[in-house]
Amino acid sequence: MFTAGFIARNRVSRLPLSGLTTMRVGGPAQLVLLDCRSDLPELLNQRHRWLGKGANLLVGDAGVDEAVVRLGPGFAAIELEEPAGGTTRVRAGAGADLAELMAQCQRAGLAGPEGLAGVPATVGGALRMNAGTSTCWMLDWVSRVEVVLPGEEAPRWLERAELPASYRSCGLPPGTLFLGCELALASGDPEALRATATRLKRAKAASQPLALASAGCVFKNPSPEMPAGKLIDQLGLKGERCGGASVSPVHANFIVNAERSASASDIVALITRIRLRAWRERQVRLDLEVETWNCPSELHAHPQDLVEAHA
Ligand code: EPU
Repeated sequence: MFTAGFIARNRVSRLPLSGLTTMRVGGPAQLVLLDCRSDLPELLNQRHRWLGKGANLLVGDAGVDEAVVRLGPGFAAIELEEPAGGTTRVRAGAGADLAELMAQCQRAGLAGPEGLAGVPATVGGALRMNAGTSTCWMLDWVSRVEVVLPGEEAPRWLERAELPASYRSCGLPPGTLFLGCELALASGDPEALRATATRLKRAKAASQPLALASAGCVFKNPSPEMPAGKLIDQLGLKGERCGGASVSPVHANFIVNAERSASASDIVALITRIRLRAWRERQVRLDLEVETWNCPSELHAHPQDLVEAHA
C-alpha cells in the first residue's frame, strides 16, 4: 500500500500488462509511473518489478502481485556536455527512450549509439539486458551507470569496469534499478551516422516481422556459429502454432502474436515445444532471451528435464 502523498505525486493505476508489452499478452498489475525521485525509498520498500518499454518481456496470464514501476519524465533527461579531449560526455536518464538518445547523439555528431538503431527499449531496459545487435552492445559506450542495488536504498554510480557484463546481460543482480548512465563518445560525421542508422533499420525491417506483436528474439543465440533463428528454421518450425502464437515465417527466433489473440500460455507452450525439439534433435539447449514474469518455471529448466516431464 502506498501512502496518499505518494499516490498524489506519482501516477498509480491497475491495468492489464498486455497493453504495456509489445507481445500484447499478460494479466493485470498495479502500475506506478514514478515521477518523483524523493519517493524512491517508499517505492523500494514495497514489492515491485521494473518495467521499461516492455519490448523483451513475457508476462503470465495471471499478471503479477507486485507493483510494476515505470520511470516517468522526471527520470528521462538527456544532457550533452561540451567536448573535452576528443570525447563528449552524455548523461541519459533510464526513463529516456533509447531512440531519442540515439537521435540526439546523431544530430550532435557523436558516434557509437547509432549501432543500436531499431532496438526498441528505454535506456534503463537497454542497460539492464545489455541490449544489442549482432555487432554491438549497449554497454560498449557506457562509462558508468547509476543504480540502486537490490536491498539498498541509496543510488550509487558504478564504473563500467565494475559490471561483469556479457552477451545480453549487464552482470548485475536481478532487481537492480537503473537510474541512468554516462556515455563517453567520440565525434563522427552526422550524415554518416544517420546513413548507418538508416541502413541498420532497413536490414532489420527486411529480416524481422516488425509489424506484428512480438517480444523480439525469444532465445539467446546458443553460439555465433548456430544462431537460434537458423536452428529453429532448420528444425522446420517456421509457422508452427500454439493457439494464437506462431513461429514467424520471416525470422524463426520470433514468436508472433499476429492476430493479438494469443494468451501467455500459448506462447509458453510454443517455447517449450521449440526447446524440446532443439534438445531432442540437436542436443542444443536454447535459453530465453526474453524476460518472464509469473510464467511456469519450466521455461528456465534444462530441456532434458522437459523431455522426462513431457514423455
Ligand atoms: N537465419 C535463418 N533463418 C531464420 C532467421 C535467421 O536461417 O529464420 C539465419 C540468418 O540467415 C543468418 C543467421 O541466422 O545467417 C543470423 O540471423 P540474423 O542476422 O537475423 O541475426 P540473429 O542472430 O538472429 C541478432 C540479434 C537480434 C538483432 C540481429 C541483428 C540475438 C538473439 N538476436 O539476431 O536481436 O536484431 O542480430 O543485429 O542476439 C533481439 O535481441 O530481440 C533481436 C532481435
